[in-house]
Amino acid sequence: MTQIRDDSREMRISEDTVGGGYFKHAVYNHWDPYEDIGQDLIETDRKRSIESATSEEEFFETMQYLALFGAGEEAVTEDLAPLMVALDDINDQMFISSQIYEEAKHAQFFDRYWREVIFPVAEECGYEKVYPTDQRFFPDGYMELFDRTEAAMQELLTNDTPENRVRAYCHYHLTVESVLAQTGYYGLTTVMGPEEEDHISPSDLDTPHLPGLVKGINYIRSDEGRHVGFGMQKVQKHLAEDGVDEQIVQDTLQELMPFVAETVSVGDGVINPMPLVNYARDKLTRRIEIITDADAKIPDVEELVSLDDSPAAAD
Ligand SMILES: [Fe+2]
Ligand SMILES: [Fe+2]
Repeated sequence: MTQIRDDSREMRISEDTVGGGYFKHAVYNHWDPYEDIGQDLIETDRKRSIESATSEEEFFETMQYLALFGAGEEAVTEDLAPLMVALDDINDQMFISSQIYEEAKHAQFFDRYWREVIFPVAEECGYEKVYPTDQRFFPDGYMELFDRTEAAMQELLTNDTPENRVRAYCHYHLTVESVLAQTGYYGLTTVMGPEEEDHISPSDLDTPHLPGLVKGINYIRSDEGRHVGFGMQKVQKHLAEDGVDEQIVQDTLQELMPFVAETVSVGDGVINPMPLVNYARDKLTRRIEIITDADAKIPDVEELVSLDDSPAAAD
C-alpha cells in the first residue's frame, strides 16, 4: 500500500515517461483478434491452403513455423510476470500489464489458427493431424533458448540487480522478441504476403497468399516493435546510469545466437534461412549500437511499430 501513501507525486500516472507513453500507445492501438481477423479471412486461408497443397512434407514445414511461433508466444506470456514484480514504477507496471495481455492474444491467435485452418486443411488433404504441442516441431536450440529465457526472467524474483535486469532484457526483449520473433514474422509474411517480388528471396515454392495469417502476424509484429522498444530503453538506461558493463549485453547475445540460428533454419524448404539470418544480424547490430550509446535516440514508438519491409529495414 506504499503507493497510496506516496505524496511525492501530484498525479499518479505520467504519460511522458517511457512506460506511461507506451501504455497509452498500446491502448490506442488495440486490436481484436476475433473482429479484426474475421471468419471471411480465415475461410480464404483455408481454401487457398487446400488448393495449393502439394505435399505432406511441405505442409509439415508450414505447421512447424506456426507451432514454433505459438509455443514461443505462450512461453513469453508466462515468462514476463517476474519483470512485472521487479519493476517498481507504476508507469512501467502498466506497460508490462499491457504487454502480458498482448502476448496472451498472440498465443491465442496461433491456437485459433491451428483449430480453424491447420486441422481442417490436414483433414481435407488426408494428412496426419498433428497437434501444435508435438515434440517433432521443436529443435533442441529452440528449447534451450526458451529454457534460458525463463531462467533469466525468474532470476529477477530472487536476485534483482541492474546486471540481472540487463540479462533478462537481453534474453527476452532483444533475443526472443527482437531477433527471433520479429525476424521469423518478417520472413513468414514475406513468403505468405501478397507482393510478387520478395525482398528476402525466400524459396522457389509457390506459396499461397494467406490474408488471415498475414493480417494476424502483422498486428503481432507491430506489438512486438513496442515491446522491443521498451527493452531497449531500459537496457540503455541501465548501462548509462547504473554502470552496467556493456560486455554483459555482448556476451549474452553472443551466447544465444547459435540457438536462434538453429531455429530459423528449420524447414528451409519454405523459407530460405540465409537472408533471414543476415536481416536479423543487421537489425541486432543497429540496436546494440543504439543501446550502448547513452546519447543515441531510440526510435519513436510510432516508428518502432511500423512494419518496414524494405531491404534497408535495419533500425
Ligand atoms: Fe508476442
Ligand atoms: Fe512481445
